[in-house]
Amino acid sequence: MTMPPVEFDLASVDHVLQTTRSVRLRLDLERPVPRELVEEAIRVALQAPTGANTQTWRFLVVEDPATRAAIADFYRKGAERYVAGQTALTRTGVSMMREYEAEDLRQRQREALFKSGGFLMERLQDVPLFVIPCIGSRFEHEDVFTQASMWGSILPATWSLMLALRARRVASAWTTLHLMYEREVAELVGIPADYTQAALLPVAWLKGGGLKPAKRLPVGEVVYWGRWGER
Ligand SMILES: Cc1cc2nc3c(=O)[nH]c(=O)nc-3n(C[C@H](O)[C@H](O)[C@H](O)COP(=O)(O)O)c2cc1C
Repeated sequence: MTMPPVEFDLASVDHVLQTTRSVRLRLDLERPVPRELVEEAIRVALQAPTGANTQTWRFLVVEDPATRAAIADFYRKGAERYVAGQTALTRTGVSMMREYEAEDLRQRQREALFKSGGFLMERLQDVPLFVIPCIGSRFEHEDVFTQASMWGSILPATWSLMLALRARRVASAWTTLHLMYEREVAELVGIPADYTQAALLPVAWLKGGGLKPAKRLPVGEVVYWGRWGER
């Protein structure tokens, strides 16, 4: 396919998009991440879409070791409940606890995920910096339109932040397990009751060499054209 000329290097853009992994085992727990770098990456991330241009996104950056340790305790408690299948998420099928056929790619990737996830569970408090992206408003009892509009006003910016960090050789991982104790963590760090936390990104320099694209389900399996189920 011939592409029209663009003002950027498509290969580099695709490389960043395809190699921004959930990094856990290769987080450098020793080297501090400078504030300026984090703010620069957040400035880039703020170019993401924002419903009705409201920009009620806020990014809480946690550096203090004692606060990180307290949040990590909640994360671990959440992880224990998750692994024990004690969350509603288990019913949705969006769960690491879900079993697939032995030959399914996701089943074959499970062991590595448990190892890496277990490491983060044990060492989260040692990651130099956490970013907690938040969005103004509570919407858990609203309709799907409202929920999608609110999540859509924070999740793209959060992913852009991971990409912008990655482009600067800084790694992170998308995590949500602490959200089982969202209120407790909000009280700990002063997040107002009318804000919703979207994730927790542990942020650290990437150790070792480059990262590779992950193996994913083939496009043909996940794309329908015109009508559900048609290819
Ligand atoms: C909504 C969401 C929540 C996640 N929560 C966690 C989490 O709490 N802890 C964790 O270690 N990884 C978490 N992950 C990371 C996934 O396990 C990871 O994206 C998946 O295994 C694919 O790996 P990759 O991101 O390296 O391609 C989460 C990912 C998403 C999208």
